[in-house]
Amino acid sequence: MAHPADTPRHPVWSMFDRIAHRYDLLNRLLSFGRDVAWRKQIARHLPPGTALRVLDLATGTADVLLENSRRTGRIAWGVGVDPSAGMLSFGRKKLRESALSGKHALVRGDAAQLGLQSEIFDAVTIAFGIRNVDDPSAGLREMCRVLKPGGRALVLEFSLPANALFRGVYLFYFRHVLPRIGGIISGDPAAYRYLNKTVEAFPYGDAFCRLMREAGFAQAEALPLTFGIATLYIGEKAGE
Ligand SMILES: C[S@@+](CC[C@H](N)C(=O)[O-])C[C@H]1O[C@@H](n2cnc3c(N)ncnc32)[C@H](O)[C@@H]1O
Repeated sequence: MAHPADTPRHPVWSMFDRIAHRYDLLNRLLSFGRDVAWRKQIARHLPPGTALRVLDLATGTADVLLENSRRTGRIAWGVGVDPSAGMLSFGRKKLRESALSGKHALVRGDAAQLGLQSEIFDAVTIAFGIRNVDDPSAGLREMCRVLKPGGRALVLEFSLPANALFRGVYLFYFRHVLPRIGGIISGDPAAYRYLNKTVEAFPYGDAFCRLMREAGFAQAEALPLTFGIATLYIGEKAGE
């Protein structure tokens, strides 16, 4: 796997190192706890079967691995990948405290160049991470490559509400309120301005499903959550 320590520090990875100590608190606060409900949807849509092998990209502080393990007893083992050493150190602490560290390993790496063997995972997940990858299509191709035939990718990402009124209220909060609170609590105003700028520029809905199919997924569908503030994308790799 391409090791982030071998390359010059990427500004986004350094940004996550700086906000890691406040990341979980701000997620709960700024989403009014919805982020927890959204991650539960990933666990609900894991593929059928037992002894699942799962890969969680942009794993950050390991909330997706933790939520999946708590919600289902069907996970044999998991690997979390993230380039930010700061985020991973909080993730490792949480795994130790939940007694799940024997089941899951967290490693530094870039979702766009995994360097892992092909066709080894039943499910690949990524929550609020694909938007941060420099080349999201390369990240999606890697996800498809490391999935077993018939495996499933679950991509959770912010999107924009379809209803014009709700969208207006949401954008006001997202552009003006959230960056201020995030900046004050994290001590890094730029990080929370980055959030709304990248979300507003990122493809969502049908456009993102198209990217998934172009990356090799046989099927891709979008499941809007909380009026479309977030969307869960489900990509199926063709079976044998
Ligand atoms: C918003 S956080 C999401 C963390 C976690 N998945 C969650 O649900 O809370 C985004 C994460 O993407 C990671 N990231 C940034 N660039 C990445 C890349 N090229 N490959 C993998 N992860 C990346 C960051 O370090 C950060 O931990």
